[in-house]
Amino acid sequence: MMSRWQMISIQCLLLGLVSITNLRAQQPASTPNAADVQGSMLFASNCGSCHGADGRGGEHAPDIATAHDVQQLADSDLIAIAKDGIPGTGMPGFGSLGQEKLTAIVRYLRNLQGRRTDIKLSGNPKGGEALFFGGARCAKCHMVNGKGGFIGGDLSLYGADESADQIRGVILDPEKNLPPQKKATTVVTQTGQKFTGMLKVDDNFSVSIQTMDGDFHFFQKSQLTHIDLGSHSLMPVNYGSMLNDKQINDLVSYLLHVGSENSKRSPTHSSKSDDDDE
Ligand code: HEC
Ligand code: HEC
Repeated sequence: MMSRWQMISIQCLLLGLVSITNLRAQQPASTPNAADVQGSMLFASNCGSCHGADGRGGEHAPDIATAHDVQQLADSDLIAIAKDGIPGTGMPGFGSLGQEKLTAIVRYLRNLQGRRTDIKLSGNPKGGEALFFGGARCAKCHMVNGKGGFIGGDLSLYGADESADQIRGVILDPEKNLPPQKKATTVVTQTGQKFTGMLKVDDNFSVSIQTMDGDFHFFQKSQLTHIDLGSHSLMPVNYGSMLNDKQINDLVSYLLHVGSENSKRSPTHSSKSDDDDE
């Protein structure tokens, strides 16, 4: 009979496969930063569901980040446990991932165990700022500290509440990591005109969307033949191939840095205020 843990671990493996396929489409894992990114994604999809995203334990599994006995295990022991599991317990084996991925997971686990801040600050916030307003064109759609575009949310405080992994996830795969309400809405009118943009108003009778050019379009629902909510992300989906791992780390560091600076300045911040209907 399949135990609950086995079922969960099969689901985890499937998730793992999905993220591995995603990774293949990106950069070759040659630089140390690439390994960090790969390790964090593999950890999130294979281990995080039981041990917690930060490794500090969850409902299903013990703390493997701050627990002393685990910290004291050699890398080779950790790899062996991850590979073979612990028979007779809820800890499944991940041998099918192969040595290289298991090594990346364990390296990331070492980061969780003690060098968390290294990961956070492994990028260069200054470089990230330059990319944000320059080459990566984030500011075309997002505002930080009063500068930039409006079609995406204001990110001045975003990094105060979100983890590096969350930010990296959105940049690398917005289609997967943005919730539906943060994706575009497409409406089709009875005359066949099509509008795509961010949903601003949605009540019983009307919807209003803001298109990329900044214009607001207001419709009675009775005028529309089709409303497709949260169909796709307006954020470019190819940052994983456009930017290298260092650049992505720099961007993540920039958003974390600016978020923590801004939240120090206004301790009663709410980074979610752009969700409000105005
Ligand atoms: C389905 C849930 C589940 C998943 C997924 C899972 N674990 Fe575990 N893990 C457990 C449980 C439960 C234990 C405790 C086993 C026991 O009773 O000794 C454990 C124990 C461990 C231990 C030993 C802790 C100790 O105290 O000696 C390590 C190391 C570990 N897991 C690493 C990992 C890594 C790395 C991954 C991802 C590749 C992973 N685990 C995925 C459930 C899980
Ligand atoms: C073409 C427009 C566009 C560009 C360019 C763009 N984004 Fe976005 N982004 C969006 C939209 C739209 C959303 C979802 C709406 C929102 O932010 O609330 C979003 C969401 C996000 C989020 C999640 C915000 C949240 O509240 O959940 C982050 C983080 C983010 N983008 C970072 C970036 C970074 C970093 C870049 C540059 C590398 C970038 N974006 C480039 C349009 C864009």
